[in-house]
Amino acid sequence: MVYSAEMTAGIKPNQYDGRAGQLAAHMERQPYNVLYERPATRELIGDVAGLDVLDVACGAGSLASDLIESGARIVGSDASQPMLDLARARVGPDIALHHQDCSEPFDWASAASFDLVVMALAYHYVNDHASFLQEMHRVLRPDGAFVISTHHPTDDFRRLGGSYFATELNTDVWGTGDAVVSWRMPLTVMTEQFHAAGFLIERIVEPRPSAEMATSDPLVFDKLEQCPAFILFRLVKR
Ligand SMILES: C[S@@+](CC[C@H](N)C(=O)[O-])C[C@H]1O[C@@H](n2cnc3c(N)ncnc32)[C@H](O)[C@@H]1O
Repeated sequence: MVYSAEMTAGIKPNQYDGRAGQLAAHMERQPYNVLYERPATRELIGDVAGLDVLDVACGAGSLASDLIESGARIVGSDASQPMLDLARARVGPDIALHHQDCSEPFDWASAASFDLVVMALAYHYVNDHASFLQEMHRVLRPDGAFVISTHHPTDDFRRLGGSYFATELNTDVWGTGDAVVSWRMPLTVMTEQFHAAGFLIERIVEPRPSAEMATSDPLVFDKLEQCPAFILFRLVKR
């Protein structure tokens, strides 16, 4: 496809820097995260006891700390140093955390060194999906898996209108008032990116909200029961 100049400039990898604490706290209480994306992602990840796991774009370390408690050996990375500082406070001094833009080479990671890579709610921020996916393919062991949760293209289409098939930048204003830029793209573009990098899609999940949300946040529950906000993939190496 042909990228415009604005699209080539892409998304600033450190867009979470300015208000990392507020954004991390927001994600810890948002029903979209706590009662929707996180339980579905955790279920798709499955048993991690004894596994070497790379948590890419680990943010403030919420998923990483959960996986550590479940027996995983975690390495985290994120492009935002303030987010990594929050993660450090959460996971303690013994966990390796790397300041890393996903579109750049993961030079510190050896080939075939992880059983599992997880990337929760950050695939839509990556500017160079081809090189990122190649790197994840390289660092995974032959029987490794890659779990991704990201914006559902149907929800982008419902919210933003325009063409479902557009691959373009979009700015969302969060409940905190922060403007966050992400890529919008159709399902075909995502799945072709996975295919080109040598991955097979093992599972696709369109999560349903937790039952608890029906009473705690009934309006959000009704919305998510009609249209998924996120989509999850479990990829394996071809
Ligand atoms: C919505 S948060 C999700 C954090 C964490 N995965 C979670 O689920 O709690 C998105 C994270 O992606 C990181 N991020 C954004 N662009 C990035 C990039 N280009 N490379 C690496 N991390 C990036 C942000 O700094 C932020 O910590």
